[in-house]
Formats: sequence, C-alpha cells, structure tokens
Amino acid sequence: MSATADPVKVMKEQVGKAAADRVKSGSIVGLGTGSTTAYAIQYIGERLKSGDLKDIQGIPTSFQATVLAKEYGIPLTTLDEVDRIDVAIDGADEVDPNKNLIKGGGAAHTREKIVDSLAEEFIVVVDSSKMVDRLGSTFLLPVEVLPMAMTPVMKAIEKLGGQPQLRMGVKKAGPVISDQGNFIIDVKFDRIDNPAELEKTLNNIPGVLENGLFVGVTDVVLIGEIKENQPTV
Ligand code: 5RP
Repeated sequence: MSATADPVKVMKEQVGKAAADRVKSGSIVGLGTGSTTAYAIQYIGERLKSGDLKDIQGIPTSFQATVLAKEYGIPLTTLDEVDRIDVAIDGADEVDPNKNLIKGGGAAHTREKIVDSLAEEFIVVVDSSKMVDRLGSTFLLPVEVLPMAMTPVMKAIEKLGGQPQLRMGVKKAGPVISDQGNFIIDVKFDRIDNPAELEKTLNNIPGVLENGLFVGVTDVVLIGEIKENQPTV
C-alpha cells in the first residue's frame, strides 16, 4: 500500500479481489452492486483479460453492474438464457451472526435478491463495520415500492411499528428512483427480532416490490479489516 492510499478503499479492493479469485472458468456469475463488488467485477475482468479465467458470463444486478461489466470486458447474459447461476458476489449493508443481511443501500436489492438467491454459492463482500449482532442496529431497512402506493405502504409500515422515510436523492432534488422506476422507503425498526417473518410481512403489503432483508441466502462472507492501519481479508 502506498503512503497516500486510503486504507478503507484498499481493504474493499482486497475483499473484492478475494471474491473474484474464487470464480472458476466456465461459470455463470451474478454480479452485485456497490463499491466493494465493483472491485470484484474489475478483477474478474482482469482475470479474463490475462487468460487466467475463461468462458465466464455475468448476470448483472443493476445498471451500475452492467456498465462496469461492459467496461471490464465481461460478457453478459440474462436469466432467460441460462439454467443456473454458479456463483454470485455482492456487498451488504449489515450482516448478522446467521449471515442474514440488510441490503439496498444502493437501491438495487430487488434485482440483487433475484440473482443472489438463485446462485449455487452466494459470496458476500463487506468490511468489518457491516457486522452486527442484530439486523437494523445501524442501517435503515430499504423497501422498494411502486410510486402510486407510497402513502398506503408507509401507513402499513407504521402499523407494523416502523418509522418510514422516503429516500431522497442528492441535494433532495427528488426521490431516488430504482432501476425499475420505483421509490425506496427506508424504515427504522426499533428491533428486528425475526427477520424471516418481517421479510414476508413487508412483501405482503400491496405496492411493495421487495425489501432488503436477505434471510438464509448467504453461503460465504468475506470480511475486510484494518489492523494497525493495514487492510486485511
Ligand atoms: C446495493 C447494495 C450494496 O451491495 C450495499 O449497499 C453495499 O455497498 P458497498 O459495498 O458500497 O458498501 O445492497 O443495493
């Protein structure tokens, strides 16, 4: 690491690279969203370019992943064209001791859940600050909602004990719009004791497309840490 390199950035890069190193030739790879996964996409591309990796096809979870995959030369496919996903690599906003997650900090959790949950192996790439004892401790729970249903969904969430807020874009110029053209409601729950039940309850509210609880989906968590100012995985 050079004297000026940001250790957090270097750590994310190391975690992303460690995940990319686990991808095998001939695989269909789910490509996640976020700043950590971006490094995994970059390194998969570099392995392809060097010839270390062959015959890879990526399935992106967002426009961000699509753009990065194209930039790094990863051929893309769709769920209509393949009958399996071998491995998916994605970030997370919180990880609990059972490897359950909160995702959706990048508003991409709906497509991420589709791709990540189809993968034979789902690898999560995070830094140690994302590890929590209980989901909802540090991060609000993202819920993607059809715009016309925003108000009734917020009322229903309040009845469940949550405090919902509409996610606004930079400088609060307007609501954040997901890749599907929907709004994101971020919800504060005092305690999430049963993530599996809450995941289903929220998705049962008419107008909700998907929420950011990922329960029982993760196989492997790669965790980056900074010890004595040195990033490690
Ligand atoms: C996007 C996500 C991201 O994976 C999550 O927000 C983590 O991102 P980062 O690696 O930038 O911290 O769920 O919807």
